[in-house]
Amino acid sequence: MQDIVTEKNLVDYKLHVGENPIHDDVHELKIRIENVGFWYGEKQALKDISLDIFNQEVTAFIGPSGCGKTTLLRCLNRTNEIIPDVRMSGRISLDGEDIFSEEIEATALRRRFGWVAQKPNPFPWSVYHNVAYGARLHGLVATRQETDELVQSCLERAGLWDEVKDRLREPGTSLSGGQQQRLCVARAVSTKPDIILMDEPASALDPHATAHLEAMIESLREKYCIVIITHNMQQAARVSQRTAFFHLGELLEVGDTKDVFVNPQNDHCRDYITGRYG
Ligand SMILES: Nc1ncnc2c1ncn2[C@@H]1O[C@H](COP(=O)(O)OP(=O)(O)OP(=O)(O)O)[C@@H](O)[C@H]1O
Ligand SMILES: [Mg+2]
Repeated sequence: MQDIVTEKNLVDYKLHVGENPIHDDVHELKIRIENVGFWYGEKQALKDISLDIFNQEVTAFIGPSGCGKTTLLRCLNRTNEIIPDVRMSGRISLDGEDIFSEEIEATALRRRFGWVAQKPNPFPWSVYHNVAYGARLHGLVATRQETDELVQSCLERAGLWDEVKDRLREPGTSLSGGQQQRLCVARAVSTKPDIILMDEPASALDPHATAHLEAMIESLREKYCIVIITHNMQQAARVSQRTAFFHLGELLEVGDTKDVFVNPQNDHCRDYITGRYG
């Protein structure tokens, strides 16, 4: 961990960026968002958003409540469109292909994304079945042995295997909150997505469980493209390589996490991350 440089006008805030708070050019472009607008009925929730998201990196979405973070996240996997009376403009491409292209089916597209919600929400079944269910449903595993291997590898990826390997038949809901959230991550990766979307995944966790989750996020990014929404500035600074700051539906600042936290260019962004408003 390195201390953030303290500037004269930032004297009263001190954040730690992680060990990798910058974008690396070797990481490929995964998602390109171009001039995206979004409306719930008459109400415009996103205005002309353009943003690149890279593979093997964590991109943090930050900004005050109601600024459109969740809306944008749900545009990426096309889950917004199940809400009546919504409209999107602009273009989003995944691996260079328009997500609304006729070749792409919405359900197939959604499977490329894992989703981790704010509150841990395991299914009311065993730990094992929580992880095995999606893979079985989508025919990704055929035999018992394949399923066992998949369950183990997903739980390992989520940093949970050692804690639950003797409790696989117990209900997922019997685990601690932090363990349940990591079980949800194991479930999210069980269907072999390439992108993981997390909407305030640590907001219900204590600092110890949060630290555990953050360590897991850092190890997951080796294999996945990750987008995380967080209201915790320390967390955004620690876990992400790029940070995007939203305000009233607009993207006001985006860049390497180190730059955004050390020397934010936008006044609203500066005020927000220094805790002066939000
Ligand atoms: N289903 C919906 N129908 C109508 N308006 C909505 C709906 N979902 C969100 N909105 C509105 O769109 C705007 C953006 O909401 P969104 O949930 O994306 O914000 P957010 O940045 O995720 O906020 P928070 O930090 O509180 O989760 C808000 O004004 C919100 O009231
Ligand atoms: Mg939200």
